[in-house]
Amino acid sequence: MKKRELKTVFLEYDATEELPSEDKKLVIMARKAAETAYAPYSEFHVGAAVLLENGIYIKGNNQENVAYPSGLCAERVAVFAASSQYPGNAIKTIAISAKSKKFPVSSPVTPCGACRQVLAEYEHLQKQPIRIILTGEKGKVFIIDKVEDLLPLSFKADKLKK
Ligand code: THU
Repeated sequence: MKKRELKTVFLEYDATEELPSEDKKLVIMARKAAETAYAPYSEFHVGAAVLLENGIYIKGNNQENVAYPSGLCAERVAVFAASSQYPGNAIKTIAISAKSKKFPVSSPVTPCGACRQVLAEYEHLQKQPIRIILTGEKGKVFIIDKVEDLLPLSFKADKLKK
């Protein structure tokens, strides 16, 4: 028997102002995207902004539905839009932010398991890491180097083959 360890290392910034300018731009875009989320049920508005390798930015936000599971998270709205409009263009970075109508979101929002799984598939497909920037409407910012760090030992397409 061997005991194995998986580590998650990430950067923590105290405020958006400390970020490199390209990352700051993406955070501002994610916050802007959150403003137009369709989230009448949770009143939790999430925004995501994706930077592709070709320099294109794509935004997305959560889209809820009265039949709750029919809705979709901001991250998936953004990366599905990116993949459908610019197939084969690697995702360099995704920034995610959130605001609530009920309370201030002052710590970084972290993606759900299903969004991590979707991001993991694109990361695997493009054979290069997707950086993830997590924020709230204000406060600290976390930067994770790759999806693998957020979803270690994930189920990948090659597992379907011998
Ligand atoms: N949500 C996202 O869009 N992304 C996340 O990372 C967490 C949760 C959405 C789903 C739902 O519309 C609302 O936030 C409350 O869960």
